[in-house]
Amino acid sequence: VGALGVLAVAALLAVQDTAQGRAVYDRWCSACHGSTGAGDGPAASYMLPRPRDFTAALYQIRTTASGQLPTDADLEHVVDVGLPGTAMPGWETQLSSRERRDVIAYIKTFSPFFADTTQRPQVLEFSSAPGVNDEGLRVGRQFYDSIGCVKCHGDAGRGNGPSAPTLFDDTGSPIRAADLTQAWHFNGGSTSQDVYRRLRTGLDGTPMPSFSDLIDQQFLTDEQLWRVAQYVHSLSSEDEPRPAEVITAVRVATLPGSPDDSAWGGVASFYVPLVGQVIRKARWFAPAVTAVWVQAVHDGRSLALRVAWNDRSESPDTSWADWQARLAQAMASDDSADFGPGRYPDQLALQFPRRLSQGTELPYFLMGSSSEPVYQWRWHSAPRGVEEGSARGFETWEPQAAAAQNLTAAAVYDAGQWRVQFTRALVTADTVGDLAMPSGVAIPIAFFAWDGSSGEHGTRASVSSWTYLALAEPTPASVYITPVVAMLVIAGLGYVVVSRAQRGS
Ligand code: HEC
Ligand code: HEC
Repeated sequence: VGALGVLAVAALLAVQDTAQGRAVYDRWCSACHGSTGAGDGPAASYMLPRPRDFTAALYQIRTTASGQLPTDADLEHVVDVGLPGTAMPGWETQLSSRERRDVIAYIKTFSPFFADTTQRPQVLEFSSAPGVNDEGLRVGRQFYDSIGCVKCHGDAGRGNGPSAPTLFDDTGSPIRAADLTQAWHFNGGSTSQDVYRRLRTGLDGTPMPSFSDLIDQQFLTDEQLWRVAQYVHSLSSEDEPRPAEVITAVRVATLPGSPDDSAWGGVASFYVPLVGQVIRKARWFAPAVTAVWVQAVHDGRSLALRVAWNDRSESPDTSWADWQARLAQAMASDDSADFGPGRYPDQLALQFPRRLSQGTELPYFLMGSSSEPVYQWRWHSAPRGVEEGSARGFETWEPQAAAAQNLTAAAVYDAGQWRVQFTRALVTADTVGDLAMPSGVAIPIAFFAWDGSSGEHGTRASVSSWTYLALAEPTPASVYITPVVAMLVIAGLGYVVVSRAQRGS
């Protein structure tokens, strides 16, 4: 065969690739990315960020300069591993390598830019990392401030810089500056090399710029940009922390007096991931709060829990009004009609069963049910305060009467983070409304969080699944005065607690 024949065969193979690729695409990708590749599949309106519009040919995760097309290897990488922190899954185990190659060939047909073979994407030259050291991290922090990362990402990197409420992507959708303390959500990977590459290439289609120009303009050196990447890397673990199975409350002589009491510094912190509430209507697909960190101590009489979570604003905050309105517009699906322009506070709820009983099922994790209510602690930023009460599903919240409130809370908002200390006696006089907290027993606990500036309220919440709280050391039996012991026995508590309490009395 002559040269023409080879070309013809190549062209035929390419056609076959895209035909096969189309079948893969229609089956696996089009529900999100749309049958014409415009990012408007039937599932798209439930996602933020939205699925990529392939007709615009703007790609985030590249090895090429800002504004350039990605290489095939870039696309292969993204299709293999997905985009962490978004709805885009990885396909490495789902599709064969042939199918993945074909589908990439097909998505490139959605834009004429890829057809222009005179413009091959040019891979940037990336240097390798200098060794990490304290001086390097200090330089990194200095440039983090001077080249403007701090404006979007904030002083502590929690995505709450002064520009954060003004950030929209190229399609006009609201976008959150990444929380640099949770690198496992980075779209393009969490190593310092990943971060360095994102800084060199920018995230096209988003407000996150490329910083290669500043190197060309000799505003900073390539090594100094590496220092920025290493500084960012120092703010977070690469991998998501292991979710807490049991939050242990250690015994201390004196409880901390406030959320920023230095005594909290020595107490183990437990990670509890949260996800958007998507079971009950109105569902919520753009949760702002993705995790809480929980610390717990007790002194044998009272329990103190410190819950910390990252939140980009102290709500209500009028500087987020436009951003919130656009979020409401972007997420206005059929079941979201009541997403009003209201000003909502930030909120946190801690949930427990009403009773500790052995061998029975836990109440429904989404705020219980009519037959099986839950006992909750609800904190809100405005008016600042906390209440104990019970819920029978999202629709009902019954705070206890003021006289029956045994809970206190103190809160600090600082650099994009809430820290709230909850304190309550382990056993209260309200034996009907309050759950007694015995030691040596796994006490089910779950969390809900709302960011008011994201319009979150009611069912539009971040939720955890049930996890457990355990008081590490036995409570002195003297705490369980006789009627309480009797009540605990009737409630059928764990053998350990009961026997200890009986021995004591
Ligand atoms: C569940 C929805 C969903 C499915 C299914 C899905 N994607 Fe995506 N995809 C997304 C979202 C959302 C984004 C954009 C995320 C962002 O902007 O951060 C995206 C982005 C992408 C990107 C852009 C990467 C970049 O660097 O910007 C590519 C390429 C892609 N998807 C390919 C595919 C292919 C191929 C399939 C099918 C095999 C597929 N997607 C299936 C949701 C989906
Ligand atoms: C104009 C605002 C803005 C500036 C300035 C900015 N960023 Fe970003 N950055 C963003 C936004 C918005 C995102 C989230 C993009 C997304 O979700 O797809 C982001 C994402 C990131 C990510 C996550 C990348 C990934 O793989 O998902 C890192 C890391 C990051 N920025 C670091 C930096 C550093 C370091 C600087 C300064 C050198 C900087 N950013 C400057 C707005 C900005």
